[in-house]
Amino acid sequence: MKKPEELRSHQWYGTDGLRSFSHRARTRQLGYLPEEHLGKPVIAVLNTWSDINPCHVHLRERAQAVKRGVWQAGGFPLEFPVATLSETYQKPTPMLYRNLLAMETEELLRSYPVDGAVLMGGCDKSTPALLMGAASADLPAVFVPAGPMLPGHWRTEVLGSGTDMWKYWDDKRAGLIGDCEMAELESGLARSPGHCMTMGTASTLTAAAEALGMTVPGASSIPAVDSGHDRMAAASGMRIVDLVREDLRPSAILTREAYEDAVATVLALGGSTNAVIHLIAMAGRSGVPLTLDDFDRIARTVPVLANLRPGGRYLMEDFHFAGGLPGFLTRLRDAGVLHLDRPTVAHKTLGEQLTGALVHDDDVIRPLDRPLAAEGGVAVLRGNLCPDGAVVKHIAAEPHLLEHTGPAVVFDDYRTLQRTIDDPGLGITEDSVLVLRGSGPLGGPGMPEYGMLPLPDHLLKKGVRDMVRISDARMSGTSYGACVLHVAPESHVGGPLALVRTGDLITLDVRARTLRLEVDDAELERRRAQWQAPPPRYGRGYGALYQDQITQADTGCDFRFLARPGEVPEPYAG
Ligand code: FES
Ligand code: MG
Repeated sequence: MKKPEELRSHQWYGTDGLRSFSHRARTRQLGYLPEEHLGKPVIAVLNTWSDINPCHVHLRERAQAVKRGVWQAGGFPLEFPVATLSETYQKPTPMLYRNLLAMETEELLRSYPVDGAVLMGGCDKSTPALLMGAASADLPAVFVPAGPMLPGHWRTEVLGSGTDMWKYWDDKRAGLIGDCEMAELESGLARSPGHCMTMGTASTLTAAAEALGMTVPGASSIPAVDSGHDRMAAASGMRIVDLVREDLRPSAILTREAYEDAVATVLALGGSTNAVIHLIAMAGRSGVPLTLDDFDRIARTVPVLANLRPGGRYLMEDFHFAGGLPGFLTRLRDAGVLHLDRPTVAHKTLGEQLTGALVHDDDVIRPLDRPLAAEGGVAVLRGNLCPDGAVVKHIAAEPHLLEHTGPAVVFDDYRTLQRTIDDPGLGITEDSVLVLRGSGPLGGPGMPEYGMLPLPDHLLKKGVRDMVRISDARMSGTSYGACVLHVAPESHVGGPLALVRTGDLITLDVRARTLRLEVDDAELERRRAQWQAPPPRYGRGYGALYQDQITQADTGCDFRFLARPGEVPEPYAG
């Protein structure tokens, strides 16, 4: 148990020098009495609330519940607004800024008088960003997931944000619905604060945070506007104060075993392919070498058990009442794939934490003998088109496409694709393989979620709803289809994707885990000799730092200087 004078914040407030006097005087200026904070753990509440982020718009108010918990437990909360990464609005993609929020998180925690942190976020990249920063700062931390929004509604239909947006957009393009229906859908797709309520990237990553042991038990599935979300926030505020006193840090929680369990969890959830990149990056910050091969190996040992859109039927609120992540994890425990002896922020082992957890609906959270798919939702592909790997969420694809050879139709960038995809002159048939390049970490930049390439409208009108698509982009976790993603190395740095020409045959074989460009090596060498690297995009600013430091998809797209091991001294506070 830490004594008050052993707290990190003591260096700022409790010593005899002039600086300490000044810090105390300024805390009086903030309006606090000495007895309100001296000797108490200082808890930074990192809040990604913003007026423009609908997934986090309730977090300004929710921070009050966190603070309430901190006060109750004898700590001193201070709220810090940090960057908001809104999946919907931020261009070219918030993925460009994940590492910026990770840096901000780490450096805020290091440079201020902070003993522990509550991290508030949930929209897609916010979760990995906050956890990456907290892992690097290595102060005790609890993650408070923003919570899923309520289920969407349109007339008698229940809608998934994202997933149904793609579906109805295709229906509109196919002429099945018109402007009136679209106007109604606009008000029904997302009907409350909170992150996307399908098993998209947000739900996948918040579930991963819980599986890692970085949230209070059961936190990740509580709907954002449920009163239970307030109670969870208060409980998180209480827990962090004890974590500081116990000195239980992310480095003790974010172990190899924890990351393997998080991988098993996201695969068994049928979660977003984005989790592959983020978990590899997060593990890197914890000094745990996690690779694409770990995903493929673990995928073969876990079935898909969550019947959630886009791969299944239900939404996050159904999952919550079916038992949430604790109930879900009992299934993985019973399958023998979890490491039950590892610590979590709940001050219990994972195994103890799951005692008493139950599944209440076997259709939402399937039993092991009735899975949605026998193997985890993501397969890792190798081959001459992706020497450093690619991923495909095969459970969200039409099965007949999982073994397919077809002629490539190549697009050099997304704008060209958008402009020309409906052109009948391209000769695209349902057997074609659509290839998009220039959309990777550098080419995109930021690997935008272009990976679910739109289909030509003449095929949509014929009823075609899936085709093999290949890119160095990512795909929204709410998307679906036979989309091969994260091709590494990307075309922008001269990966083989840069050498594909329209008409080349490409073979996808998910069972064999291969992706092959059926062009001989000599011809590929000739094409390589003619290839010219594109000029750098950014002359200055954050983009220049990004282009200088970003790693490829297979290693998590962290910045090299952030991912590498090395000492960072504590600041001198005297
Ligand atoms: Fe924020 Fe989907 S847009 S989670
Ligand atoms: Mg998304």
